[in-house]
Amino acid sequence: MVFDADTAGEIVSRYAGVPGGLLPALHEIQETFGHVPRAALTALARGFNVTEAEVYGVASFYHDFRLDGPAGKRVLKLCRAEACQAVGADALAAHVKAKLKLDWGGTTADGEWTLEPVFCLGLCACGPSAMLDGRVHAMLDEDALDALIAR
Ligand code: FES
Repeated sequence: MVFDADTAGEIVSRYAGVPGGLLPALHEIQETFGHVPRAALTALARGFNVTEAEVYGVASFYHDFRLDGPAGKRVLKLCRAEACQAVGADALAAHVKAKLKLDWGGTTADGEWTLEPVFCLGLCACGPSAMLDGRVHAMLDEDALDALIAR
């Protein structure tokens, strides 16, 4: 959905009086608009009576909030944390970056794929690990990852 100030205002007003309401408001903004647009930061700041910098600080702290535009239809998150790095995540990352012609945080020109880093998916004992469209996958190698992408 394209950003609409009225819709953003409704979302903000629903959470503005709730202790700890900024995070759920950010989540709903992102679910509604596909990302957290700059104008939404302004609406959130007004609604929560904080500065835009404070809202930006919260939104940018959490990797799942997209501040630079909506994600592609399919989102591949590769684990970049140490346990997965120890079993080949760096080589796997290089492989998938070349295959999708993307860098971290990038989205393909056709809007199909977004590639994001993630720092541990709780599958450290069976890395390298990844999450594709919200589902986790473990013990990946280039062939297994290619098969996931081809599905
Ligand atoms: S380090 Fe990759 S899943 Fe934990």
